[in-house]
Amino acid sequence: MAFASRSLRVTCLALLVALCGACRQRPPTPPSKPPVDPGGPNAATGFDNLSNGVVTDATHREDLAAFDDVEQIADGLGPLYNAQSCRECHQHPVSGGPSQVTELRVGHNGPGGRFVNPDIPIGRGTTVVNDRTLVNDRAICPNAQFPDSEIQERVPDGERIRTTRISLNLLGDGFVEAVDDTTLERIGRAQCRRTNGKICGQALRVPIVEAPGATRVGRFGWKNQHASLLSFSGDA
Ligand code: HEC
Repeated sequence: MAFASRSLRVTCLALLVALCGACRQRPPTPPSKPPVDPGGPNAATGFDNLSNGVVTDATHREDLAAFDDVEQIADGLGPLYNAQSCRECHQHPVSGGPSQVTELRVGHNGPGGRFVNPDIPIGRGTTVVNDRTLVNDRAICPNAQFPDSEIQERVPDGERIRTTRISLNLLGDGFVEAVDDTTLERIGRAQCRRTNGKICGQALRVPIVEAPGATRVGRFGWKNQHASLLSFSGDA
């Protein structure tokens, strides 16, 4: 018996060795095709708070300081607002990145099922914020100076369409800004063809705030309402 089990062990061992040998001898899987280099500059990586080369590091540092700057009432903060600094929402893992912070947008459907922007009363009904889907989360009063000024925005019951929008990553958005209008229009048309008209990306032309009179295909914001980062930031 002892002999039999020893020989079994030997056989098993031999089999194992044979199997492992087979593993070793298996031809390596062919490398997958290298990605096609589209040419042009690649997006910067590393989250090192350094410039990607478009501006000097010194300019980038100044821009970063403005982005990180914490606004106070004396700087013009309020009366309604969402946060005191761009960085409060765009900061993961460095300033300019995304975060878990959301913004609230509301509205309701009117005649014909068309979306209608809300009118939101504040200050116990003394003032109405008209035609604006964004509900600000914070207000500068009531405070010690104005204890009776209750202006916090609250969603009226009738505004049944409610959605939160998450803070997006802005790192690399300069590359999105640089995309030509025709590329976005072409992608929309190609989607439509590929899905037999079921999904058709809609390219909207929107005004460029810093270039009065000029329009461009929108690409930033919840309804693609901006075509440039400067326009968007002025609005933010
Ligand atoms: C309260 C949070 C919050 C603060 C503060 C904030 N953002 Fe945003 N940001 C957002 C959210 C949420 C979005 C996504 C909007 C959407 O698609 O509905 C966004 C989107 C953007 C976009 C467009 C990104 C894209 O790819 O479409 C830019 C640019 C931007 N923010 C810049 C800024 C700047 C500059 C500041 C400071 C002046 C700022 N944000 C402050 C929450 C914030």
